[in-house]
Order: sequence, then structure tokens, then C-alpha cells
Amino acid sequence: MIYFLAGVAAIAGLLFGYDEGVIAVASPTLRADFPMSALVDGFMTAAVPLGALIGAILAGRLTDRFGRRRVLMAAATLFAAGALGAAMIEALWVLVLARLVLGLAVGLAAVVSPLYISESAPLSIRGALVATYQLAITFGIVASYLTGLLITGPGSWRVMFAVGAVPGFLFLLGLLFLPESPRWLVLRGRAEEAADSLTRLRGGQAGVAAEISEIARYAGAETKADTGFAALLHPTVFPALVVGVGLFFLQQLSGINAVIYYAPQIFNHAGFDDHTTQVLATVGIGTVNFVVTILAMWLIDHWGRRPLLVAGFAGTAASLLLIAATLLLPSLLPSWIVIVALLAYIASFAVSVGPLPHVMMSEVFPLRARGPGMSMASVSNWGFNFIVVFSFPLLLADFGLAATFSLFGVICIAGIGFTLLRVPETNGLSLERIEAHLRSGQPLALLRPTP
Ligand code: BGC
Repeated sequence: MIYFLAGVAAIAGLLFGYDEGVIAVASPTLRADFPMSALVDGFMTAAVPLGALIGAILAGRLTDRFGRRRVLMAAATLFAAGALGAAMIEALWVLVLARLVLGLAVGLAAVVSPLYISESAPLSIRGALVATYQLAITFGIVASYLTGLLITGPGSWRVMFAVGAVPGFLFLLGLLFLPESPRWLVLRGRAEEAADSLTRLRGGQAGVAAEISEIARYAGAETKADTGFAALLHPTVFPALVVGVGLFFLQQLSGINAVIYYAPQIFNHAGFDDHTTQVLATVGIGTVNFVVTILAMWLIDHWGRRPLLVAGFAGTAASLLLIAATLLLPSLLPSWIVIVALLAYIASFAVSVGPLPHVMMSEVFPLRARGPGMSMASVSNWGFNFIVVFSFPLLLADFGLAATFSLFGVICIAGIGFTLLRVPETNGLSLERIEAHLRSGQPLALLRPTP
């Protein structure tokens, strides 16, 4: 059952990736039907991250009030409605609206899906299950690139948008068969339903009573404390907020979405002006991103979070600086190094910097602050996503590719320092054990699994 739950919840990730990537492949035929100014184009493209930002802000309160599953069902409905709406539009402003709705769904689901998985998973495979969410994002990106390759011709953008409704419906259908998160039910004082839910998730009653009483012990203590966004500033919660928000800041400022959205232009800038080379290299980037994320799912629960993060930031920093050096010293370094280094960058990202912020934001917050905490982390994800995607063309024009990539590289080096100073090792620890450490008042970064 837990695998089914993780699979269903991960459809949200697929939709996240698909809605990110589809605009790149849909825009040539869309523009032929609806010529648009740069401003309208920008607003239409940005409507998804903007909607996602709003969805992420709303998600915390909504999910604490209505539960994980019901918010996801609402998101699934919005996904399907937004996709069909976008496919059928007759005026551009309706497309902007439809993409805002899609963004809203992405933002809600981006907070609640990993939360739902993490609260339902047994701890031995929790990291890997939450990482399926990241795998689904990367699959969504490749799927959108491939849809763009397969569906061609005038008006094909309508089909590309409509395809997004299919996983939306499947998502809704799957959710109908799933139980509510046992942790949320305990928090609402519905212990019996929580036990039923956990029995279904674990496929039997073994250990269920013990797990429920462990959750209840923590939930009971919580009701006396601050809840909601105010709780995030409490000294025992704030270090978790720093980790959640900080990791997404670093993830986005590592420049990932400059690469995901602008890969063809980057190759062009690096001197590969043949269109086919650009497209193939872009599909290559999407594929490496997807395949390496599979490896990450295994490594996260075997290597642990901290070593993997340090290795990932070191790899992305080295690749970015190598690209910058190749661009600056064309007589010394051949230009193919740019392609190889960009693939190395994506691999380093996908093995660590991509999935780990999603995994860790679902682990570090104490139960009472988990909804608002994950909301804030997602706001950081979408806010900085938006900033990087918008500023990249300007940075490119004003400072050039080498300087921009060097900046991203320096931020990745800062990511190593941040990990060592602030990020705990949560591998193999129950969510309750992580919470006990926060309460003890000891620095969060000192948390280690007890052998
Ligand atoms: C990030 C997205 C990014 C994706 C690429 C995710 O972890 O949050 O912004 O586009 O990785 O694989």
C-alpha cells in the first residue's frame, strides 16, 4: 500500500515537471497562432511559477485544516481543469489564467505530496520514497521534451497542454483509494482512524499500536505549544526553517533552472549553433537528470544526507567553474568540454542537490510546524526559481555566460559550508527522534543517527 501511495503522490511531481517543461516545446506553434509581445510571453510563461508561489503559501494552512489527502484531491482537480482549459483557449488572457490555475495546483501539491509520503512511510525507506517525488519531476521534464518531439504541426500546442490532463485524472483516481495520513489524523485527535490508516499502510496490525502511541505522545505535547506560522520562529523550530529555506535557496541559485529552461540557448552561447545538436544535447540533459535521480534514491538512505549534499555541491561547483574556464580560455580548452561539464553538472545536481531539499524539508520540521514549515520551504523553492529564470537572460546579456556560471559556482561552494554548519544527518532516524533533538535545544546540525 505504501508503494501505491508513494506512486500516486509522485504523480504530482510528474505534473510539476511536465508543466515546467511543456512551455518550452509548446511555444513555437502557440506563438504562430497567437503572436505575442515579449511582455505577454513573459507573463504567460511565468504564470506557472507565480501560481505555484501562491499555492505554496496557501498549502500549509489548508493542509493542516483539511488534511493531506483532500488538499491533494483539490490539486488534482485543478491540474486536470487547468490542462484542459489551456488546451481549449481562444484568447491569450485565458491561457494566462489557466496557467495560473496549473501553477496553483503545482504549488499545493509540491508542499503536500512529499509531506503525505513522508508521514505515511516506514522510516527505513522514507528517504527513497520521498525521492520518488523528485524522480517524477525529472520524468515529467523528459516527458514534456519528448511530447514536443513527437507531436508536431500547426496547433500541436493544444494537444501538448491537453496531455497534462491525463495524469491529473489518474492522480484524482488514485487518491480515492488511499487513506489519510495517520500523523495528521492523530493531530486532529482521530486516533482510531489513524490506527485504521496505518494498518492499511503497513498491510497488517503488527507494530501499529506502538507507532500510533509514539506519534500521539508528540502530538499531545504539541497542542500546548504555538502552532501555525508563529511556531516557525520558536527557537526549537527556527533551525529547521533555516535548513528548509536555505537548501531550496541554494538549490535554485545553483542555476538549475537556467539550465532546464535555457539549455538550447546555453549550447548556442557556447558556440554550438546547430539546432539539432542543441535539441539532442537538451534531451540528453533531461535524460541524465532522470537516470541519475534513480541512483540518488538508493544513495540517500545508504550514504546519508550530509555526505551526499557535500559531494553534490562540490560536483556542481567544479562543473560550473570548468564551463566558465572553458569559455574564458578557448585557446587552451576545447569547446566540447562545455557539453561534458554540463552533463556532469546535471548528474551532480540530480544525485543530491535536486532530491535532498525535498526529502529534508519533509523530515526536519516538528509535527506542529510541518505544514507551515514546508510551505515556507516551497515558497523559497518557487520564489528563487522565479528570480533565477527571470534574471538569467539579463545576466547573460550584461555579464556573459562565464561570469553568470561562475556566480552559480560560488554559490554552490557556499552550499558546502552551509551543509557542514547547518544541515543535520537524518538518515535512519524517525521523525519523532528528529523532533526530540530539536526540543533538546542542541544545534540541529549536530544530529546524528545513534548506532
Ligand atoms: C527543483 C526544480 C527543478 C528540478 C530539476 C527540482 O528539485 O525544485 O526547480 O526544475 O529539480 O530536476
